[in-house]
Amino acid sequence: MTMEIRRYLEHEISSDLHSSIEALRNSCFPEHQEPRSYGKQFPHFRILAFVEGRLAGHLGVDHRAMRFGDRAYSIFGVIDLCVAEDERDRGIGTTLLSDLEECARKGGVDLLVLLAHRHELYLKTGFRGIDAECMWLGIDEHRNLGVIKENVSGELMVKLIGIDELPAGPVDFLGYMF
Ligand SMILES: CC(C)(COP(=O)(O)OP(=O)(O)OC[C@H]1O[C@@H](n2cnc3c(N)ncnc32)[C@H](O)[C@@H]1OP(=O)(O)O)[C@@H](O)C(=O)NCCC(=O)NCCS
Repeated sequence: MTMEIRRYLEHEISSDLHSSIEALRNSCFPEHQEPRSYGKQFPHFRILAFVEGRLAGHLGVDHRAMRFGDRAYSIFGVIDLCVAEDERDRGIGTTLLSDLEECARKGGVDLLVLLAHRHELYLKTGFRGIDAECMWLGIDEHRNLGVIKENVSGELMVKLIGIDELPAGPVDFLGYMF
């Protein structure tokens, strides 16, 4: 298998590539299909995996400041990590996450953040779950719903990159939940 990882700033993505991402995303998340390449908001950049030139894996990234406890951190939020069904279990998901980590280390990012119902891949790649009251901007179909407050402890996971510990306390996403 010849796999290639490429990073794209959002505004550099061609309409053909947006269509390929849309098709991949919709096939991987059948319950969250959209007529576009993103769910709620544009990612800042994407890390894409191509196998024999065909799009096989996607990881969108939101780079933002996010508050944990009493201070703000530079974070990369993971958006819509997905791999084409016929290419799964060959390490593409792991490779996309390790490329993200490399990017984060070079960029001085404090931690990686994601939300997931299933945790296996993330526990294997060094993430851990955290338990905290969270605040975020609700968005539905390009309309904001105001601030939502909830404990999403079963789903929120982090991987510390440029810091050794994360304070306890409420988590403010300072934006939408990716
Ligand atoms: C999750 C996903 C991206 C993994 O991609 P992949 O290329 O198969 O990943 P890797 O080959 O590096 O690792 C495979 C491991 O991921 C884990 N895994 C499988 N599905 C998973 C899921 N939905 N969530 C978390 N971990 C998962 C398993 O532990 C698997 O190892 P195993 O087969 O030995 O049990 C892929 O299964 C996928 O696209 N699923 C549908 C979309 C999705 O649920 N995305 C995650 C959103 S949080």
